Amino acid sequence: MYRPARGTLTSRLQNPYVVFFAVVSGVIILAVVVALLIHFLAFDKKSYFCHSSFQILNVNYTDQLNSPATQQYRALSGRIESVITTTFKESDLRNQFIRVHVVKLRQSGSGVIADTVMKFEFPRNNNGASMKSRIESVLRRVLDKFGNLEINLPNEITTITDQDAIHLFTQECGARPDLMTLSEERVIGGTKAEEGDWPWQVSLRLDNHHHCGGILIGNKWILTAAHCFRSNSNPSRWKVTFGASTTFPKKTERVNTILIHNNYNSGTHENDIAVMELSRPITFDKDIHMVCLPEATQNISPGSTAYVTGWGSQINGGNTVVDLHQGRVYIISNDVCNAPISYDGVVLPGMLCAGLPQGGVDACRGDSGGPLVQQDSRRLWFLVGIVSWGYQCGLPDKPGVYTRVTAYRKWITQQTGI
Ligand code: ARG
Repeated sequence: MYRPARGTLTSRLQNPYVVFFAVVSGVIILAVVVALLIHFLAFDKKSYFCHSSFQILNVNYTDQLNSPATQQYRALSGRIESVITTTFKESDLRNQFIRVHVVKLRQSGSGVIADTVMKFEFPRNNNGASMKSRIESVLRRVLDKFGNLEINLPNEITTITDQDAIHLFTQECGARPDLMTLSEERVIGGTKAEEGDWPWQVSLRLDNHHHCGGILIGNKWILTAAHCFRSNSNPSRWKVTFGASTTFPKKTERVNTILIHNNYNSGTHENDIAVMELSRPITFDKDIHMVCLPEATQNISPGSTAYVTGWGSQINGGNTVVDLHQGRVYIISNDVCNAPISYDGVVLPGMLCAGLPQGGVDACRGDSGGPLVQQDSRRLWFLVGIVSWGYQCGLPDKPGVYTRVTAYRKWITQQTGI
């Protein structure tokens, strides 16, 4: 007997609902695919780094331009950065331009060459050649803005890989790779640090136990506190580890020599400073590189923000921790710090106080020898203090007391050549 087949393709296609749903879902899928394509091709942005060198003809190279800590270096590189930034902000690349940073000032003849890195964000599908020519045409407009600076433009700009850009930054002091982001993207204060956040922080280990913090100031030099060596100053019993975790360090090095300040006084904590020479120079990478040292004359303003980092205990009398922590504090003037309710006159000129008036954020046992750092106007990180002493930890009116790095700037050069 003949039975009409049910549910065959032809019969389904005759059902208006099925046809309707098929068409609608087809259109939706197509729309999603087109939208994703448009998104990835046109709106998905990729970062591009460019390296270019500007020649400055009418500025004479002097020793002052050797270090990013000097007023001359800050003024010249800050000027170049701001002229380039304004030019791009006034051009049709204002949305693509992210930041420019002078990585180095070099001598060329009697003049100066400024090596810069620029960061842009272009859609992923953009054509490299047109991107370069657009950037070059904006750069030509830079010339009019320099006023009294006579500049030779780079013949051409070169795009470099993200790795090359990071490499350029890690060779110079105080430049974390997040320097090239639009704003500080991290929230900081009494919290666990990420790998690479404080790349100059090291752990000093005595017989393989964390004993003190230390600060990387050159490829074989660690700065720390003299009191860290009160129990032992034999280099062969010390090791230095790098990276944010002390259980899984990124690198471990042996120590050649320990140089303690001759006039360190354990009673008054005066001259609480020492340097260690590593047994071999280390190679910098994005998570391990050095901090900048300030000039002796650098003024550290009371009230300005600073960060202290370390593996020290989180409560008074507690144990040290295995993950690096950071705390945000404010610089306190020696006068305020020497008030009767505070330290009543025992804070000497070679010391520096930092904390919060109400207490709560402070260094503590195990943080000694570690860094207190500040960012300068160009977002480079400078060392201003070395964790030295305090009355307990985090109490109101009892801030942390640090060795004032500017006061020992000459001593550091005498010991290390830095
Ligand atoms: N001396 C201590 C140490 O050896 C650090 C003291 C810092 N104290 C403070 N309250 N900030 O680790």
